[in-house]
Formats: sequence, C-alpha cells, structure tokens
Amino acid sequence: MLIKTTSSAYDHGVPSEITPTEVYHARRDLLRWMASGAAGATLASWGAREAFAQSVKLPGKNVPLAAVKSPVAGAMSLEKLTDYKDATGYNNFYEFGTDKSDPARNAGTLKTSPWSVEIEGLVKKPGRYALEDLLKLSAMEERIYRLRCVEGWSMVIPWLGYSLSALIKRVEPLGAAKYVEFVTLADPKTMPGVTSRVLDWPYVEGLRLDEAMHPLTLLSFGMYGELLPKQSGAPLRLVVPWKYGFKSGKSIVKIRFTDKQPLTAWNKAAPREYGFYSNVNPGVDHPRWSQASERRIGEDGLFARKRKTLLFNGYEAQVGQLYAGMDLKTYF
Ligand code: MTE
Repeated sequence: MLIKTTSSAYDHGVPSEITPTEVYHARRDLLRWMASGAAGATLASWGAREAFAQSVKLPGKNVPLAAVKSPVAGAMSLEKLTDYKDATGYNNFYEFGTDKSDPARNAGTLKTSPWSVEIEGLVKKPGRYALEDLLKLSAMEERIYRLRCVEGWSMVIPWLGYSLSALIKRVEPLGAAKYVEFVTLADPKTMPGVTSRVLDWPYVEGLRLDEAMHPLTLLSFGMYGELLPKQSGAPLRLVVPWKYGFKSGKSIVKIRFTDKQPLTAWNKAAPREYGFYSNVNPGVDHPRWSQASERRIGEDGLFARKRKTLLFNGYEAQVGQLYAGMDLKTYF
C-alpha cells in the first residue's frame, strides 16, 4: 500500500508557506493511520512501486514524495521535529561555503538532473545507476532520525528513503569487500566552495560493510515529504544516525566497495580530531571540545539549554552489537 501525499502541506516555496511542525505532525499522523489500515499490505509490491514512480517527477524542485512509515526499529523518534526552515537553513555543505547559511544561499546552482551513481570496486554488478532507477529500487519509507553534528548541535528530521542495504544487495559485493566508500560531487562550475582549500575535494566518506548493511543506514532522497532540497544533499545522500553528521555524505556520485579502510575527507584533513568510525559518543571528547552535550537546533532559541548526548546518538540498542569488544576510544 502506498500513501500519496498532496503538494499543499509540503509546499515550502516561500517562507509564509512553510509548514508549521504541528501541521506536519497532524498530517503525518493521518498518513500513519491510513498506512495502518493497510496492515499486511506489501510495501514493496510492484503496484506500489509503479504508483511511486508516477508520483515522482524529475527534474522538479520540491515535488511531493510518496512514502510509508518505516518498519525499521529505531526509525521513529518521539521528539519534536526540527522546523523545516531550520533544517534547511542551517547546514554544513562546504562545497557551497563554510557558513551555516551558505548552502541555502548558494546551492541553487547545483544541477541534480540528470544524475547517476557509479558503483565500482569489489562487486559482481558494477555500473552506472540512473537516479530514476535508484528511486524505484526499494519502497520509500519515512524515518524520523536524530542527526548529531560533531560541532555539538542536533536536529530531528523526517527523512525519506530506504535502507542502503537494498542497493548493496542488488550490486552483490564480493567476499573480499570489507568497506564502502562514498564519493560526492565536486564540480567547481556549480559549487563555489570547491575552489577553496578547506578540504581535499571531493568530499569522501566511508563505512565498514556491516555498518553500511545495517537497516538504520538510510539512502535518502527526501525529507518532510519532498525530494531533498539542494542544500540538504540533493538528489541523494546518506543518513547514518548513530554517527556524527559528517559521515552522512551529500550529493553522492560514486559508491566504491573495497578491502581497505577508505581515507575520508575529514580524517585526511585532521586525523587527530576526526576518526574513521566517528560514532556519537559522549565519553570520547573531541580534542578541542567536550561531546557530552548538544544543542537542539530551534529549541528554545539559538542559545538553548543543552541536552545530554547519548551513546550512539540514542541508537545503542540497534547498533551497539556492531562494536562489541572494540575500544571506542582507540577507534573513535
Ligand atoms: N557532505 C558533503 N558532500 N559536504 C559536506 O560539507 N557536511 C557534513 C555532512 N555531509 C558535508 C556533507 C556535515 S559536517 C554534516 S553535520 C551534515 O552533512 C549536515 O547535514 P545537514 O546540513 O543536512 O544537516
């Protein structure tokens, strides 16, 4: 069963039309109720996929995406959602500048269509996968995840996408594949920040294969019922909710399967400060600041009281087992 959304409640074209969180919640509750009425329906049925394909128009600015509530454990946060305007106005996307307001201001130049993702390395089915095919590869779900930035702020966002594992299974990694590297777009013509030397472009991130296969690891195409806005990593990004936000690469163009731990952008830039794992951990401080607490964006104003940061960003029950026996201080 597929729930179709109408454009009105998700139309964020101008500030006056921004959906207040309450309206969004009410709307989502309605969708959830409708979805539960379809209990037992196969979410990934061919009919649903076709309906979904028809509901997605590419290219488009923010067209509504149809999705169902995720059955993945841990995917539904009970906290208040971050307002859309905060989630899309306070971003890290250094390809468009280093100030939090730069991506919203500058990302309009990003060209998201046509778009494809090159799959290479240790897989049986390498090749170039068109965005349109990736959108239809698995049933689209809505998942509400916390995202905790290494800088000490966090947001709660209704993401749209499906588990990255669906794509990984489709391309069939070879037995020797142990890691997955994500390479994102670095186009100096459309991304003004790429001419700066703040990072060694392209922005690269990586996960261990079992982390990438974990059901919580989301390949995201949208948020708040719509395709991703450009500043949020259109047309597709990762969301790895138990790791610091920088592990969630935006505007991905290449996924490479390897037997070696990838050299990631932030690890290359400052190896003492940013490790490969980067699991959210209040017990392991950044060399220059504590990670014990965080500020929720939009909560009680800009300088709100801080809340305690949780181990694995609160997803310990789901992901703790991935790190059993590992010294999290050494593998930070
Ligand atoms: N991906 C790319 N390509 N470039 C970036 O600069 N910044 C990362 C991550 N993904 C970044 C990126 C960081 S530091 C964070 S905290 C998150 O994106 C922020 O995601 P958001 O702006 O959508 O909240």
